[in-house]
Amino acid sequence: MSEIINKLEHKRDAVTLEDLEYILSTNKFDNQIFELADKIRKKYVGEEVHIRAIIEFSNYCKMDCLYCGLRSENKNLKRYRMTPQEILDRAKLIAEKEIKTVVLQSGEDPYYTTEIIEYLISEIKKLDMAVTLSIGERSFEEYKIWKEAGADRYLMRHETADEQLYDKLHPSDTFENRKRHLLTLKKLGYEIGAGCMVGLPGQGALELAKDLIFLRDIDSDMIGIGPFIPNPHTPLKNEKGGDLNTTLKVIALARILVPTANIPATTAMGSIHPFGRQMALKCGANVIMPNLTPNPYRPNYTLYPNKICLFEADTACINCVKGMIKGLNRVVGKSYGFRVKLASI
Ligand code: 5AD
Ligand code: FES
Repeated sequence: MSEIINKLEHKRDAVTLEDLEYILSTNKFDNQIFELADKIRKKYVGEEVHIRAIIEFSNYCKMDCLYCGLRSENKNLKRYRMTPQEILDRAKLIAEKEIKTVVLQSGEDPYYTTEIIEYLISEIKKLDMAVTLSIGERSFEEYKIWKEAGADRYLMRHETADEQLYDKLHPSDTFENRKRHLLTLKKLGYEIGAGCMVGLPGQGALELAKDLIFLRDIDSDMIGIGPFIPNPHTPLKNEKGGDLNTTLKVIALARILVPTANIPATTAMGSIHPFGRQMALKCGANVIMPNLTPNPYRPNYTLYPNKICLFEADTACINCVKGMIKGLNRVVGKSYGFRVKLASI
């Protein structure tokens, strides 16, 4: 076995930026990396795949991230907001389907006040589910209030750990600030979900290596990785998107470097290849996030083109992902699916 694979397997904390840059700049080790990631996934998080139902409750966004279809500058999007009652009705339906996590996702939308989010959390907690927030950067005080209301997890991708690239892609944010938010969330007791896109303009092997080092350094509990898919209604419309193989490799390396993390087979993976999510589940992923956004809203949460599941029947994605899990000879998770603690292994 090559020295580099040996190091990945047995000395993950000694793996350097240079090692990762090298691995990401050659295809030589790809199959070994994919196999190792699958083996590590099995060893640390087992055969269960956790289902997290996502409700995209508002596509309003005050930010202007260059890659994202929800950016406020995009006038080519029908905007919607779900009412708290609509959101809670949806959460109830999800609970009835015996799914143990609801992900509340939206653009950065201040319409939903501290109190509204707090109310949603406390109501959903009564349904005996884990609550994940994915609503962007808010004040540290709000994070605290929501944690106390019962929120369990917070998804906030770091998007790219290359500071210059981050700052270029986010006109009103900086990487330093993003990192501060993630660290604060972690300190407050949330499980945090960092992660990045793969194939952003100006992002090569070195920049992706930085993403992986960042994920290991902050010990991200969850890691969302997907290809960048150029959106025709954004300034990055003419850029090339991320490719399947590189994205799979970044997912696999994330599993290797953070063995107990919960790693989703992302919707973006499914959107660039009909079996993209299945492949991700075989290269380190152990989570899947079916879309439970109700109609008529669902087709309007268009971060990027060709997003899957937009026209599926109401709750069809639940059965679809269950079928997918079984088809891969894996097991549908029945627990809340918190991160496993190393000591218990
Ligand atoms: N392609 C792929 N992923 C995207 N996201 C936003 N826009 C795009 C795009 N064009 C991702 C970001 C964000 C998550 C909700 O969706 O990483 O954090
Ligand atoms: Fe939505 Fe398969 S997960 S159709």
